[in-house]
Amino acid sequence: MHAQKPETLKRSAGRARHSITGLSGRLLVLTVAFVMLAEVLIYLPSMARFRITYFESKIELADQAALALLAAPDGMVSEELENELLRNVGAKLVAMRRKASNALILSDRQELPMLGAPMDLSNWMWWEAIMDAVKALTGHADQYLRVIGPSPREPQTRIEIVLPTAPLTKALQEFSWRIFSMSLIISIVTASLVYLTLQLWLVRPMLRLIDSIVGFRSAPEDARQTLQPSQRTDELGLAERELQSMQQELRQALIQRAHLAQLGIAVSKISHDLRNMLASAQLVSDRLAASQDPTVSQVAPRLVNSIDRAINLCAQTLRYGKAEERAPEPARFALRPFMEEVAASLGMADMAAIRWINAVPDTLQVCADSEHLYRILNNLIRNACQAMLPKGGEVRVSATNTGARVVIEVADTGAGLSEAVQTHLFQPFRGGRDGGTGLGLAVARELARAHGGDLELARTGPLGTTFRIILPYPAN
Ligand SMILES: Nc1ncnc2c1ncn2[C@@H]1O[C@H](COP(=O)(O)OP(=O)(O)OP(=O)(O)O)[C@@H](O)[C@H]1O
Ligand SMILES: [Mg+2]
Repeated sequence: MHAQKPETLKRSAGRARHSITGLSGRLLVLTVAFVMLAEVLIYLPSMARFRITYFESKIELADQAALALLAAPDGMVSEELENELLRNVGAKLVAMRRKASNALILSDRQELPMLGAPMDLSNWMWWEAIMDAVKALTGHADQYLRVIGPSPREPQTRIEIVLPTAPLTKALQEFSWRIFSMSLIISIVTASLVYLTLQLWLVRPMLRLIDSIVGFRSAPEDARQTLQPSQRTDELGLAERELQSMQQELRQALIQRAHLAQLGIAVSKISHDLRNMLASAQLVSDRLAASQDPTVSQVAPRLVNSIDRAINLCAQTLRYGKAEERAPEPARFALRPFMEEVAASLGMADMAAIRWINAVPDTLQVCADSEHLYRILNNLIRNACQAMLPKGGEVRVSATNTGARVVIEVADTGAGLSEAVQTHLFQPFRGGRDGGTGLGLAVARELARAHGGDLELARTGPLGTTFRIILPYPAN
């Protein structure tokens, strides 16, 4: 996928923040739509109900008009009064049917068109009532309508009226308009509340997260780009805290990587010049080796060896670049004399405060790259001496060969490792000693692992520390 530049991301996040395509904008539109939909669902039955109530009120008025007829002698009233009564009801015709007697009729004597089936108020269905109301609202109903219903006074008496539909249509339209305006107000108010709530609770914190991600991506080393999480306990709070710790860890890793890269360059430069300097030292030491002086000829081979090793190491570092080690080339050799060589190169015999004990059995063999094993032991023994100086103590090396592997232990009687140092013991640049780079154990473990073995802390405490090197010992 094509990765967007941080500025592009920032711009699109800014656009989304204000436009209708943003999260809160979309929610605003959706809320209005959903509330309106809910209102329509409420509106249809209430419109049908409104129509029925309209008819019931007309039946009631018609019933009262019929009472006037009942009170009149012979059930007859003047034409004038009849028209007045009909106008009052708003009907073209009113009939009252009592069980045992004839119907009483009020009529304006105008010709009426053919009428369809009457609307019976004591027997109607919701679905039909809704459909008829829609018809009446849209003006698609017949011009006149017959309605039959029980008298509110005497339920056995049936009242029948003929109504013009135009006033009903008008009343329904007014009712619908009222409902529509009310729904619109309700949905706008609801949507605005939902919009504001979401804006405050979700969108703003999310934009803060996005800003922080975009900012971090453009300048990961800048500590100011780290998100300061809020006190929220919900999912967004969790996301904020997770993002913050991810940013902190990544920044730490980046700093460490930059550190390592710089160190790589520095090491290359130092190795280069050191190799040249050692080459001159080698010339002198070769001449010393040829000396007739017994003391000099005794020390000279050690000096020559050390210088050779140093030159090799510099050359390898330069050849293999920054951090990569060359692959080990294991060979079998006796460990005890090798240990003595390591101790001699470290000048153990000259350290008055430190007792050197080589407890490795005479016959014990290891299978390792001697150059690498030398560096591992050198680091461990140097650490042991540093941990005991200036007070002094004892460094004891021992080893066992199980046939499948060799376990070498380097033990000292120093004050032990603190908890804090133990946590990052084999990580580069995390040493706890003043003046140390914190690389020794990291390098030693890497070398041991390259052999298919390992380096571990066997035990530590106020009485001393023991490191254990494990090396495979192949059958042949
Ligand atoms: N035998 C030991 N006794 C007590 N502390 C030890 C011992 N070995 C290592 N440490 C602690 O572990 C830390 C890491 O050791 P490591 O050899 O990796 O780095 P360093 O000695 O600080 O630096 P350098 O890269 O020069 O070796 C040391 O700084 C020291 O605090
Ligand atoms: Mg060290």
